[in-house]
Amino acid sequence: MEETAPFGSRTVPLSDKQTLVDNVFRSVARRYDLMNDLMSLGLHRAWKDALVTALDPPKNRPFALLDLAGGTGDVALRVIEAGGPQTHVTVCDINADMLAVGRERAAVHKLGDAVTFTEANAEALPFGDRSFDAVTIAFGIRNVARIETALAEAFRVLKIGGKFLCLEFSAVDVPGLDRLYELYSRNVIPALGRVVAGDAESYRYLVESIRRFPSPPAFEAMLRAAGFARVTHKIMTGGIVALHSGWRL
Ligand SMILES: C[S@@+](CC[C@H](N)C(=O)[O-])C[C@H]1O[C@@H](n2cnc3c(N)ncnc32)[C@H](O)[C@@H]1O
Repeated sequence: MEETAPFGSRTVPLSDKQTLVDNVFRSVARRYDLMNDLMSLGLHRAWKDALVTALDPPKNRPFALLDLAGGTGDVALRVIEAGGPQTHVTVCDINADMLAVGRERAAVHKLGDAVTFTEANAEALPFGDRSFDAVTIAFGIRNVARIETALAEAFRVLKIGGKFLCLEFSAVDVPGLDRLYELYSRNVIPALGRVVAGDAESYRYLVESIRRFPSPPAFEAMLRAAGFARVTHKIMTGGIVALHSGWRL
């Protein structure tokens, strides 16, 4: 029997999920950064800042980061700003349209050689074993069809002693906020998607994919199974987001 994967509220053949996800991000690429600000009321900036703080890029030695599902380069920009002159970020994403926006942003910010954009699937990385000091993925892992495969690849390309950080939506567990969040994500986000990005359906997918993502303990178990050690997570904004981390030791 063919393997299946969740796609929004539907279950689709595993082989179809990536194409459907690619269509979502092709559709929203040009409006993606604006939509992030509107949908999260600017909070995604604080969540990404927390990721960069946890990453703590060194100021005075070489530091090679792989930012998986890095899209428009938002995390890369922040890491380069926080790190030293020897910081290099490889933004890897499967979607050429998201990367095109990222390249334009990198040019505007005059990032030069500090960032490289690579079109690739997180499930089959075109990088050698143990080639990065750290690997990050922000709001990307739930879009990947074979999460275990992507985690194994992240582990493979990480140097011994390297850190893995994953920012992802989680489950709100604050009474009152959970109801508000439910109403907001079910109604406001697709409406914003329709008005601003001309695409309510893609944003409905994003909301549903959040709902179906494994709980923090279940995701921690997946990280341990991929080989990561000292796995932990930190809940932010009442559970809207979790920052997961692990080490390759
Ligand atoms: C919600 S966006 C996050 C972008 C960026 N990390 C951020 O936080 O702004 C999800 C990204 O995951 C990418 N993506 C989905 N499946 C992927 C895969 N299998 N391999 C690599 N990137 C993937 C999409 O193309 C999209 O750019």
